[in-house]
Amino acid sequence: MPKAANPDPFPSTLWRLWDQCRPYRLHLAGSVALAFLSTPFALLVPLPLKLVVDNVLTHQPAPAWLERYLPSAWLRSNTNLLASAISFLLLLGLVMQLQVLASWMLQTYTGEKLVHDFRARLFWHVQRLRLSFYDRSGTADVAYRIQHDAPAIQTAIVQGILPFVTAVFSFAGVAWVTCKMDLPLALIALSVSPALVYLSRSASLKVHDGWHRVKELDSSAMSVLTEVLSAVRLVKAFGRESDEDERFATRSSQRVDGQMRLALTQAVYYCLTALLITFGTAAALWVGTRHVQAGLLSVGDLLVVMAYMTQLYEPLRTMSNKIPEVQASLVSLERAFALLDEVPETLSSAGRPIHRVSGRIEFQNVAFAYHNQRRVLDHISFEIEPGTKVGVLGPTGSGKSTLLSLLTRFYEPAEGSILLDGIDIRELRLRDLRDQFGIVPQDPVLFNCSIAENIAFSTPDVSQETIVAAAVAAHADQFIQLLPEGYETQVGDRGCCLSGGERQRIAIARAFLKNAPILILDEPTSAVDSKTEAAVISALDALLRGRTSFMIAHRLSTLERCDLLLHFDSGEIKVISDDVKMYLRRLARAQGFHFEEPPPARLRPDIFIAAPSDSSTAFAD
Ligand SMILES: Nc1ncnc2c1ncn2[C@@H]1O[C@H](COP(=O)(O)OP(=O)(O)O)[C@@H](O)[C@H]1O
Ligand SMILES: [Mg+2]
Repeated sequence: MPKAANPDPFPSTLWRLWDQCRPYRLHLAGSVALAFLSTPFALLVPLPLKLVVDNVLTHQPAPAWLERYLPSAWLRSNTNLLASAISFLLLLGLVMQLQVLASWMLQTYTGEKLVHDFRARLFWHVQRLRLSFYDRSGTADVAYRIQHDAPAIQTAIVQGILPFVTAVFSFAGVAWVTCKMDLPLALIALSVSPALVYLSRSASLKVHDGWHRVKELDSSAMSVLTEVLSAVRLVKAFGRESDEDERFATRSSQRVDGQMRLALTQAVYYCLTALLITFGTAAALWVGTRHVQAGLLSVGDLLVVMAYMTQLYEPLRTMSNKIPEVQASLVSLERAFALLDEVPETLSSAGRPIHRVSGRIEFQNVAFAYHNQRRVLDHISFEIEPGTKVGVLGPTGSGKSTLLSLLTRFYEPAEGSILLDGIDIRELRLRDLRDQFGIVPQDPVLFNCSIAENIAFSTPDVSQETIVAAAVAAHADQFIQLLPEGYETQVGDRGCCLSGGERQRIAIARAFLKNAPILILDEPTSAVDSKTEAAVISALDALLRGRTSFMIAHRLSTLERCDLLLHFDSGEIKVISDDVKMYLRRLARAQGFHFEEPPPARLRPDIFIAAPSDSSTAFAD
């Protein structure tokens, strides 16, 4: 997974964040407006106190500005003045709580919608990334970025940017009022700001890098977790539990170290900020007291100014603390945006549309290597007429599956071209191209839902009859009927409740249902016994009729019914187009097997392998 290449990703991340938030700009503006209200409210809080100290306790007449709002006859009574101050305080408290409530709800709604949209966009994107991307970066890190990094959009906005913007405005408001009341005092209080800005900047640079490391460690701990959980049988079978515990604990404890270093940086920074602010307050108190003694300021004014001082420092503290705090969210966002930088396949927008092809296929001097490693395929050229049954055989690792992955454009050839009905497949619309293939993969994966839903994977809204018909054709109906809940049986995680052969037959039923003009069968009977194999093969006969098909198989019996063979042999590919049976017979003989017919099941080379001489005693008491 690429890291952010930009050395200072700050501005670009903020810009992309804004772009992602654009649909909710009105909600965000509403949140900011509500938050702004808190500034005038906060400025009003000390006023009742000033009124009580300056006017009620000292029996001074009510200030002139108050007479604008209340009748002067009412204000002449000292008790009334006190009642006014108290009522004002209570009313202000109520309004402030209403503002908090509205602000909370709006922020939660906006934040949750932002996370939902961002995750949906990431999920849409990663589903369209090339397979080569997943070969490179694995799936656990991608899952981590969508599930754990993407929600940072909410934290960045709600706990970072909104409070920061609000703090800027309330700081400006309080600074203006304080300057008006006592300029030298305000300037003394503000003199600590440059030091705060400097501290905040250097702390954020430090924690930014630290967060990158912590996130990577976190994601790699999660990859151990997903790996082990998805292979829990294997771990148990090999007794690897404690090794895996250790692997997980190592990565997890490295994360603890990283977090501790971050906490130390942040704690030191907070202490320094707090000390600077205390220093500013102390200086202001010194000067303020002198001003009162010199008669420049009333005691009430000094109290108000000192209260404002707290309110002046509060946004200043928020502003300087938010910058390092928001780094964790910004790092997460950088990681999530890096996913969006990966170029996806263009499935449906670009390319020539096609409907059902006839199935003529031509490979012209095709070469391919996985991530610039050694070439798996080289100089591959052959031509296949529509409706041909092509058998593919060769040793494992020789590139059979790879060849067929090129056909469906799961990977792109490094050289040469592949033509479908005379058109280069790179020119075709990818969605349409993939619609032409029915695939029965080597190790069929089922989703954790019912058997019926798994069969209808390509076309979810087909009728139950069609699903059953496909299962009958794939010789799967028999075993499905025996299950307690039949077609509604849940197959478990990745189909774990079914045997390999049962999964394979469900995959064949899927291919029947898709009814595509070209079929790719990657060892479709590798996991079934010879009786079921005969049944599946006869099912396949029906499926293959009239379609171009590729069948990878190790059992020579399975290949017998093919019209043409692609034989991968010592780095090259032989195309056998005439008398396939004769070729297979010679091959069997060369490998030391007797080719007898019928029945075809006897052709399986594996049944000729002699058991080790002492195998009969292996399980003896
Ligand atoms: N996703 C992949 N990334 C890197 N190498 C791969 C990948 N898939 C297969 N290979 C390598 O390519 C070669 C051909 O693999 P494959 O086509 O699966 O063989 P076959 O299907 O004939 O058994 C093997 O050497 C294998 O290790
Ligand atoms: Mg293979």
